[in-house]
Amino acid sequence: MSINQTLENLRGSYRNASFDISDANSRPDIQFDSWFKDAVAAECDEPNAFVLSTVLNGQPRARVVLLKGIHNENFAFYTNYNSAKGAELANNSHVAMTFLWLPLQRQIRIEGTLQKIDSAFSDEYFQKRPRGNQIGAIASPQSQKVASRHELEKLFQDADKKYSNEVEIKRPEHWGGYTITPTYFEFWQGRENRMHDRIIYEKNSQGWHLSRLAP
Ligand SMILES: Cc1cc2nc3c(=O)[nH]c(=O)nc-3n(C[C@H](O)[C@H](O)[C@H](O)COP(=O)(O)O)c2cc1C
Repeated sequence: MSINQTLENLRGSYRNASFDISDANSRPDIQFDSWFKDAVAAECDEPNAFVLSTVLNGQPRARVVLLKGIHNENFAFYTNYNSAKGAELANNSHVAMTFLWLPLQRQIRIEGTLQKIDSAFSDEYFQKRPRGNQIGAIASPQSQKVASRHELEKLFQDADKKYSNEVEIKRPEHWGGYTITPTYFEFWQGRENRMHDRIIYEKNSQGWHLSRLAP
């Protein structure tokens, strides 16, 4: 069967649950917390993974990263500040996040602006990472071209050797976190006949305003 035939035949139906404004918490971070807990309880793979979308000179770019904390309603993730996304974020701090929890037939979209996290958070989180991940963060020039897998492994081995006598590895300056301050949320619950529920939160001077969107 060709991929296009397969694609034509793929047709899921969504009928697990519903979501109405009357079910939604007035605070979107609390609503997020509730759906995130459901995703963990449903044993969704990597429930903290989300697509991070950025824009560079009008060109959208996207990749998956992991949510690592929510501090004062701000969403934190960690990466290499010198990566492609790091350069994009230095240029344009407007981002979008997309969480997808298929077993629950749910999607959450968030838009907001981003800033670098306090270095103390990055230091603390770096120390919690397994040693191999710490070495990897030091060794990998994320998003740069490398000649071969061999060259990459050599970078890792060299860094591993360099730090072999260090009990605690210091966070490199090029690695750390960002926090996203949301201005918009959409909670999407799949429903029958493509008549899905979409409840949005928009931030204004009074706080959060909730509405329903057509699917
Ligand atoms: C499930 C999953 C989780 C990931 N988590 C992270 C992460 O937390 N931080 C990160 O820098 N990259 C993470 N990545 C890798 C990114 O998707 C991406 O390849 C990398 O950050 C380079 O992106 P860039 O070249 O756009 O900067 C993850 C990828 C997957 C598939």
